[in-house]
Amino acid sequence: MRILETENYEEMSVLAARIIGAQVLLKPDCILGLATGSSPIGAYQELVRNYQKGLLDFSGVRTVNLDEYCGLAPENPNSYRHFMDENLFDKINIKKVNTFLPDGMAQNPEQESARYEALVTSLGGADLQLLGIGRNGHIGFNEPCDHFPKDTHPVALTQSTIEANSRLFERKEDVPSKAITMGVGTIMKADKILLIAGKEKKEIIEEALFGKVTPQVPASVLQLHKDVTVIICKS
Ligand code: GLP
Repeated sequence: MRILETENYEEMSVLAARIIGAQVLLKPDCILGLATGSSPIGAYQELVRNYQKGLLDFSGVRTVNLDEYCGLAPENPNSYRHFMDENLFDKINIKKVNTFLPDGMAQNPEQESARYEALVTSLGGADLQLLGIGRNGHIGFNEPCDHFPKDTHPVALTQSTIEANSRLFERKEDVPSKAITMGVGTIMKADKILLIAGKEKKEIIEEALFGKVTPQVPASVLQLHKDVTVIICKS
């Protein structure tokens, strides 16, 4: 595991974008595993800048996102599909048909989860999976529990995650209580993992990277992955 510390969010974003950009340069038809939340926004902006400078070509890239809220249509500004379109996909030359997220509007979330898991498997898993981390150590929406969920599955969000994510919604009541997320096994299938975290995640990062490997801290499973880079910012 490589742990890199940057002075601030901007430096973290530039560094993360360099690593993602390097993956795209090395393998123009790579599978990028992508994440939502505040942590990756700066990295996506930097990728867009690099694309605009002509340094990156996304025409052969396919993407799989970690998760999606249940009950939010793609047009809903709070859906993760909308987030990805707005922050990245609409600003680069990726083919929209090559960008995948679970369908939050699926009638049957169990079936949708199985479909998404099969899709990720058929793509051979991500070459590089970008991750943020929740304050309770969740990755994707794998919340603390008594086992590591293996495959993509529907999940009930914890109160702390609903609280944390409510800042992005107009009203707390609008935060969905359910989501579909890649499982910990799906995430661990990635060849390489890049975890980025702001200074407010320092404590949980320490617990996850240096504490006991336990499903009570889902990100602790990353200690068992062969190729993890973590970027933390100091301020
Ligand atoms: C959400 C996402 C996670 C993300 C987490 C942290 O719950 N499902 O994938 O890592 O938020 O987000 P932020 O980077 O905004 O702190």
